[in-house]
Amino acid sequence: MTALTLTNVNKSFGEVHVLKDISLEVEEGEFVVFVGPSGCGKSTLLRVIAGLEDASSGEINIDGQTVNLVPPSKRGIAMVFQSYALYPHLNVRGNMTLALKQEKQPKAVIEERVASASRMLNLEEYLDRYPSELSGGQRQRVAIGRAIVREPKLFLFDEPLSNLDAALRMNTRIEIANLHRALDASMIYVTHDQTEAMTLADKIVVLRDGRVEQIGSPMELYNNPANQFVAGFLGSPSMNFLPESLLDQGSDTLGIRPEDLFLSDDGPLSAQVSHVEKLGGDTNVIATVQNHSVTARLFGQHAISEGQDLRLGFAPEKAYRFNADGQRLR
Ligand SMILES: Nc1ncnc2c1ncn2[C@@H]1O[C@H](COP(=O)(O)OP(=O)(O)OP(=O)(O)O)[C@@H](O)[C@H]1O
Ligand SMILES: [Mg+2]
Repeated sequence: MTALTLTNVNKSFGEVHVLKDISLEVEEGEFVVFVGPSGCGKSTLLRVIAGLEDASSGEINIDGQTVNLVPPSKRGIAMVFQSYALYPHLNVRGNMTLALKQEKQPKAVIEERVASASRMLNLEEYLDRYPSELSGGQRQRVAIGRAIVREPKLFLFDEPLSNLDAALRMNTRIEIANLHRALDASMIYVTHDQTEAMTLADKIVVLRDGRVEQIGSPMELYNNPANQFVAGFLGSPSMNFLPESLLDQGSDTLGIRPEDLFLSDDGPLSAQVSHVEKLGGDTNVIATVQNHSVTARLFGQHAISEGQDLRLGFAPEKAYRFNADGQRLR
């Protein structure tokens, strides 16, 4: 069964058309990630799904029911915001139980759900502490716990890890993946972070300027991008784009992933090295090819330095081609 279906959803704020004809499906138990540049409409889309904003047109269907006119609290959704928005005057237990008390759930149910969520999130020791007495990561877990105890059909996460440092992000990312497995719930997760999108998603929705550019599994999008925008958005370092005219081949744009470039004395690209990133396991060589910047990701360690001239090659079948409108030709 489909957990969520959006059909031609539009949202305008006055004159500003923010969401444009968005149609997509989230299957039951699926982990769907929304990515896209700042301002493309990711948070607005989550808020429309949650019912915090009304759609201007189109249908929102949750679990087989049209919910356009259903208030947020009756949609079976829990949302975790970027700013955790914990109540400072309530301790962890109070923050986790507030919504259940408002729903007038029986005391035994509340206790059991809090016990189970705090076990899952390693919060058992902290139930009596106030938010100001917790670390950023612990506060984030309380915000997630507050969502879990409501036993929603669908979780919405809006950049939940963006306030955490790199190490904590990685731990919490793994916790979220485990949580998804344990709860078997449907989740929609908004992020700017490449690694989060690629590693957490069953399905990625790439948004740009309020429109869906492409939907697919991480590897489908990486290996088979529909257009230059998706090709350039997923992958780090991102895909290189070069005019075919550089190679006397035509008038389209060539796309070559950094890992598909290699050092080759008779390679077609004559490059001057402008910067080298030595990462230990890999070496990123940033070079200039006739005024175009190109990044090659070489496996292992290389004695390459700035200012050096070198030649780069690639296997023709690894190259993508895009027309002047950015549509994929090959
Ligand atoms: N209440 C509002 N009134 C007018 N414009 C709004 C309103 N809320 C959002 N917008 C506009 O809608 C667009 C999308 O905003 P949204 O917050 O959904 O972007 P986002 O993709 O979540 O960006 P970010 O990655 O920076 O969080 C922006 O141009 C924003 O200025
Ligand atoms: Mg946002």
